[in-house]
This record gives sequence, structure tokens and C-alpha cells, in this order.
Amino acid sequence: MNVAEMLDGKRVCVCAGSGGVGKTTTSAAIALGMAATGAKVAVVTIDPANRLANALGLEQLGNEPRRVEPERLAGSGLDIQGELWAMMLDPKRTFDELIDRIAADPERAQEIKDNRVYRELSTAVSGSQELTAIAKLFELDQDADFDLLVLDTPPSRNALEFLDAPGRLNAFLEGRALKAFMRPTGLGIRALGRGALPLLGGLRRITGIDLISDLTTFFSLLGDMTSDFSQRAAQVEQLLRSPGTAFLLITSAAREPVDEAIWFGQRLESDGLPFAGVVVNRVHHDLLGDRPPREVKRSLARVLPPGLATRVTENFRDYHVLARRDEDNLGRLADALGADRLLLVPQLDDDVHDIEGLVRIHRYLFGSQAERERLIDDLVA
Ligand SMILES: Nc1ncnc2c1ncn2[C@@H]1O[C@H](COP(=O)(O)OP(=O)(O)O)[C@@H](O)[C@H]1O
Ligand SMILES: [Mg+2]
Repeated sequence: MNVAEMLDGKRVCVCAGSGGVGKTTTSAAIALGMAATGAKVAVVTIDPANRLANALGLEQLGNEPRRVEPERLAGSGLDIQGELWAMMLDPKRTFDELIDRIAADPERAQEIKDNRVYRELSTAVSGSQELTAIAKLFELDQDADFDLLVLDTPPSRNALEFLDAPGRLNAFLEGRALKAFMRPTGLGIRALGRGALPLLGGLRRITGIDLISDLTTFFSLLGDMTSDFSQRAAQVEQLLRSPGTAFLLITSAAREPVDEAIWFGQRLESDGLPFAGVVVNRVHHDLLGDRPPREVKRSLARVLPPGLATRVTENFRDYHVLARRDEDNLGRLADALGADRLLLVPQLDDDVHDIEGLVRIHRYLFGSQAERERLIDDLVA
């Protein structure tokens, strides 16, 4: 199965996986490929490398998708039947917009946004990116008319954090801490328990931050908005579970990301979430095979300067080792999640920083089985 088949009839594609494996790159290549098939696609990226952002025309922030001008895609060699849109997520702004949308009135919204606890919460790197990514996805799904949304998930240390983030925030907002703080100032503090008081007091002395009053204000400002939060959280969960959604796991072939992908895949299945497939990026193929390195070097020396021939041979030898390692990990991945669900993208000899690079990745994701096999054969030959 290629990506087009995996995403057939889907409206949302969540690309999940550990950081640094090529999630952002793959998300962009998927969106490009689906746009080529005629769909109006938006890719929501989180942290595109600068050059890729430039290539997509993403340098302006705006927190809304913008169309990638067809001229940018013209040289790609792909015939783009549909439309490619892209946006770079701005977590702080997404959070603010969420508050604007559900606060009773603009004054209340402003007070919340000025509150220190809110500011900390909305800019804390861990958790808030996951949360806002999903919030944005939900909003686009409701309000915009895309055929497909491709979500590049944040570079969490652990991919599962993405699934847990909304639940954690919701638990925090709904939880007992909240109920306690909702009572008039003072009572809330007592409800925290005697142990916490010296702690918070100490914190205030050291940091000068009056956490107690900030927290109390924050929660009383939120007031009845929490029920809207829970309602939204429930709708978001519904979206993630819907048959129109597909989770694609992105991983490299190294041991840790593969372990994590196996974990994540199993968790998706046990949670009943729609798991479509796995893209294994940056796979090393054995360029040396059974040929003895010395022989390879001799034949390379006929066409290359000696120093270069040596370096290329060494490179082949490194690849040979990495390819063995990758093969082991791929075997484990296939056993755990099913071989027919894996799509392999090779380690390219250059970074992917422009449309041309995306097209190179695209071939491995959207080619037919035979085409993909031929590409890999060509690579190794
Ligand atoms: N198949 C590949 N071959 C070579 N370089 C790649 C490949 N896939 C991604 N890269 C490069 O790896 C780096 C990390 O990719 P990125 O998509 O930003 O990862 P992530 O979003 O998972 O952190 C980028 O410089 C990108 O160009
Ligand atoms: Mg990324």
C-alpha cells in the first residue's frame, strides 16, 4: 500500500513519531503528494527547518494556512492537480485564539491572557504545542474547506506525549485543584493542604512571584469556561477517533525510534484509534552487498580520483554496517505492526530542504509497489 491508498477517503492525517526522524519532511511530502492527486490539502507544520520553510513560502507567520503558490511547485516535475496549503503553528497565538473563542466577552478574554499563570501555561514548551496542534486541527476541520489536513506533530521527546496532552490539560482544568481554587481566595489555599503553603510561600519569597494569587485569579477567570474546555476536548477526541482520520507513524530505522513506533502502534490499536501505516525514513541500503570492499575500491579508482575512491568505499562500508542494523530493526517493526503497513524511504545523500527534495521523498511514498521496489534496486545496483 502506498500513502495515497492509506489516505483514501481520509480528511485528517496525523503524522506522529519521535523527534528528528523526518516527521516535518514527511508530512510536507505527503501533503504535496496528495495535492498532486487533486485534493486541496493543508499541512500544519510545527518546526520546519528554515530552508524548507522558505521553499514553501512559510516565512510569514499568520497562524492560518496559506496557499503555496503554484509557481513554487512548477519546477517539481509533478503535475499538481489540486492545491497545497501550508502553515506554521504558533502555539501561543493558537492558545490565545482558543481563549478568545470561548471566553464570555473580550474583557474576560484579555484578563485571562494577561494572567501570569495563563502566560506560563500557554508558552510552556512541553504540552502546549501538542495541545495547540490538536486545537488548530480541530478548528481547521470545522471551519475550513480542505479535503485533507496533514498534521506534523511537535518534536516531543516521547511520541506518546502527543496523545496524552489534551487529557492532561483537561484533567488539570477539571481537577480538584480547580474546584478548590474556585472558592473565594483563602479557602482555596487551605484546600491545597497544609504542606503546600510553606512551599508556595517559599516560592514567592525566592521568585517574587505570587503564585497563589495568580493561580486563584486564573481559575476564577476561567470560571465556567472549563465545561467548554471539556466539551471541546470530547469533540477533539471524537475527531481523532473518527474513521476519516488516519494516524501515520514516522520513524527512522534506528533502534530507539523503532521501539517507540512499535509502542505507539500498539497503543493506537489498543485505544481503537485509526492506525494507517508506518513510514520508515532514512533507511540505509546495503550499497556494498557481498562485494569485497577492496574490489569495489579498485573499480571505483578507475573512474574517480584515488582519494575520492577511498572515501566512497569507506562510505559504502559504513552503509553496509548501518544497513545490517536497519534490517534487524525493520524486521522487528514488521513483526510487531505488519510488513504490509511499512513504507521505506532511503537515507538520501543530501538534506531535504526544497520542493525537489520533497519530490525525491514523494516517489517512495506514492509509487506503486513495483515502482518502489525498482527505485530501491536502482539505489543498490
Ligand atoms: N530521507 C532523508 N534523507 C536525508 N535527509 C533527510 C531525510 N529525511 C529528512 N532528512 C533531513 O533530516 C533533518 C530532520 O528532518 P525533519 O523533517 O525536520 O525531522 P523532524 O521533524 O522529525 O524533527 C532535516 O535536515 C531533513 O532535511
Ligand atoms: Mg519536525
